[in-house]
Amino acid sequence: MGVIRVQSYKKAAHYGKIAIFAENIQRMTKRKIAVIGCGNMGGAVARGLALEERYEVRVSNPSPGKLEAIAAEYPSVATFRSNLQCAAGADVIILGVKPWKVSEVVAELRPALAESRSGRRPILVSMAAGIDLAALREMAGEVPLIYKAIPNTAVSVGSGVTFACREEPDEEADRTVDGIFSTLGVTEMVDERMIDAGMAVASCGIAFMMRMLRAMTEGGVELGLYPATALRAAAATMRGAAELIEKNGLHPEQEVDKVTTPGGLTIRGLNALEESGFTGAVVKALRACIG
Ligand SMILES: NC(=O)c1ccc[n+]([C@@H]2O[C@H](COP(=O)([O-])OP(=O)(O)OC[C@H]3O[C@@H](n4cnc5c(N)ncnc54)[C@H](OP(=O)(O)O)[C@@H]3O)[C@@H](O)[C@H]2O)c1
Repeated sequence: MGVIRVQSYKKAAHYGKIAIFAENIQRMTKRKIAVIGCGNMGGAVARGLALEERYEVRVSNPSPGKLEAIAAEYPSVATFRSNLQCAAGADVIILGVKPWKVSEVVAELRPALAESRSGRRPILVSMAAGIDLAALREMAGEVPLIYKAIPNTAVSVGSGVTFACREEPDEEADRTVDGIFSTLGVTEMVDERMIDAGMAVASCGIAFMMRMLRAMTEGGVELGLYPATALRAAAATMRGAAELIEKNGLHPEQEVDKVTTPGGLTIRGLNALEESGFTGAVVKALRACIG
């Protein structure tokens, strides 16, 4: 009976007591997410999740300014100076601290990581680059399920890409972690051996795309466009190219064919780009990112 009421709780909002009952159940079933470190990444994740009713979001940070800022924007987010208080009873603990702080912070969180909650093991998600699952397991002890998730900065605008991997398959935890990062864009769950490649394409890739936008803007200005016009057009063109790939499902070269008339202008530009080593330069850049 309770389950039926919860599923139709919006309709039940008309019926007083049942609505209160349904709301209480909903509050009880919210996933408690603790974000440790409220910087660029942690702050972006917490802000994205705060918009979702199904999560209860808590954040901790040593300096108060960032906590005050997020609490002012999202009153539903609970803020803490203590990492352990923030993580107490959380279903998912997300680390948003710099890699060199991870070991110290996980040691502090050990009591929260050592307890299962209603039979569920806590989930630890580390966003720190360069710290692998084995090292996290060593730091966190036996109890938590451990994930590594590397988002890019576009999570802050809900268009991010996150590459995630885990130590042991667990369908429910996979769904939980996928659900969290998919709220902020696209999530790719991969083997750990692919994480660095994913980070090169998506996290470092943001910087490469920015350089492409800068280059397009500089070229546009040389041809006579105002800088703001050129940048706006280049950004919209990049978005359009991405949407063509996502919606049409074709290989990029098939989309290139559509704009390449024999003897036309675009092919001249494409050949000039390749004479300057464009594809080779991009591949070399990605290779450089994984050392
Ligand atoms: N930026 C990216 O593109 C990117 C991409 C993928 C993964 N990552 C990973 O994300 C993590 C965070 O990077 P970020 O760019 O968000 O760094 P950030 O902006 O410097 O954020 C780190 C936050 O951690 C807080 N902090 C410091 N010591 C702490 C402690 N003992 N307990 C709790 N919080 C503490 C800092 O607070 P104060 O400022 O008050 O000291 C700061 O707000 C890194 O591990 C990085 O490898 C970043």
